[in-house]
Amino acid sequence: MDDKEKENYIQVIAKLINVVIILLVVIVILIVINFTGLPKMGKEEKEYIPKQKDTTLITKTPTVWIAPDTSEINKEKNASQIKYGRNLICNTSFYLGLHGTVAQMSNGMNCQNCHLDAGTRPFGNNYSAVASTYPKFRERSGNLENIYKRVNDCFERSLNGKTLDTLSNEMQAIVSYIKWLGKDVPKGDKPKGSGLTEVKYLDRAADPEKGKIVYMLRCKSCHTENGEGKLNPDGKTYQYPPLWGEHSYNHGAGLFRLSRFAGYVKSNMPQGATFENVQLSDEEAWDVAAFVNSQPRPKKDLSKDWPKIAGKPVDHPFGPYADKFSEQQHKYGPFEPIAEFKSRGKARDGEFTSPKKNKPK
Ligand code: HEC
Ligand code: HEC
Repeated sequence: MDDKEKENYIQVIAKLINVVIILLVVIVILIVINFTGLPKMGKEEKEYIPKQKDTTLITKTPTVWIAPDTSEINKEKNASQIKYGRNLICNTSFYLGLHGTVAQMSNGMNCQNCHLDAGTRPFGNNYSAVASTYPKFRERSGNLENIYKRVNDCFERSLNGKTLDTLSNEMQAIVSYIKWLGKDVPKGDKPKGSGLTEVKYLDRAADPEKGKIVYMLRCKSCHTENGEGKLNPDGKTYQYPPLWGEHSYNHGAGLFRLSRFAGYVKSNMPQGATFENVQLSDEEAWDVAAFVNSQPRPKKDLSKDWPKIAGKPVDHPFGPYADKFSEQQHKYGPFEPIAEFKSRGKARDGEFTSPKKNKPK
């Protein structure tokens, strides 16, 4: 290498070093911007906070429960039992409905009509928390309940039917499936997205008249004008399940409580809605709940329910109560004053265990 070449060589290296330094500076600036954000130009934009906190805000949580993949069922020793259980949840009517092939013991609805996507949909009344939280004490019966009892509760109320024998193939299969669904949930845990959406209370009573308008515009096309749903061409199973009338859930069912109905429809109806893509406002959800639950439906003997009346949820529509609010207010609201009364622990016998549990988050 002669001197000239050497000089060129040094110049090239110096240029390279310059380029590297510039690159480093740019990278540092980018990192700083990434962490602190660009300096605000002009008036600082305030974060938008809606006046009435809407329940749709939960959508920001990325950690909702995801059900195990059905292809994993084959790994289980009792795979065929679990699959039968899943089938019974999806096609309850076919096996156990009015014309059921195994027994005729329920109203023609499927578990899946309310526990959507075979009990796996986030905020679609899924079964994620069942294996992890049962047996548990429930105020309605005043007893420690196992999963069999809880399943039979829905048979007797939501499906307005009879109970399944605990030892029957069908009950064993249903419970195996529910346990399989919750197999990865730690004991005692209630995953995000389990059960139903808690819709914020209105500051007025829910209004059946306004609800009727919502029903006619948003629900009638499928559930029909008389609320009795639409059968499939087989004449036995439902394409669109009934919302009232003799084949609907009875007045002891969970959905007969306005908060359960509003929570179900808020995240799931009209069909196509999800918790991330709701189609009804909170008001519409409460009002349509009030309308549907003021229509005729089967009754059930509830005299054994709620042995401790102070344990009744704020929206249990039948007295007697441990507070001064009327049956009318317990059915339609406004619920906030009742919830407040409960949480201040003023119920006469003061025995309810978790005063805040019915308060929407
Ligand atoms: C008409 C609607 C409806 C139908 C049909 C229905 N259920 Fe339910 N089910 C509910 C409601 C509402 C709840 C209570 C949800 C809540 O309070 O958050 C519930 C709760 C449950 C629970 C307890 C869930 C938990 O996390 O504690 C189980 C288990 C269950 N149902 C099983 C079944 C089975 C099995 C069937 C079919 C045989 C069925 N349900 C049919 C509406 C229904
Ligand atoms: C496009 C059709 C369609 C519309 C519109 C619709 N639903 Fe549904 N609905 C369904 C279907 C289908 C199911 C059963 C879901 C399943 O089995 O996967 C259902 C189930 C239900 C259930 C639980 C099962 C039962 O029968 O009790 C309720 C409650 C309900 N819908 C309420 C409503 C309300 C309230 C509206 C209006 C705001 C509405 N739906 C609009 C199709 C519809």
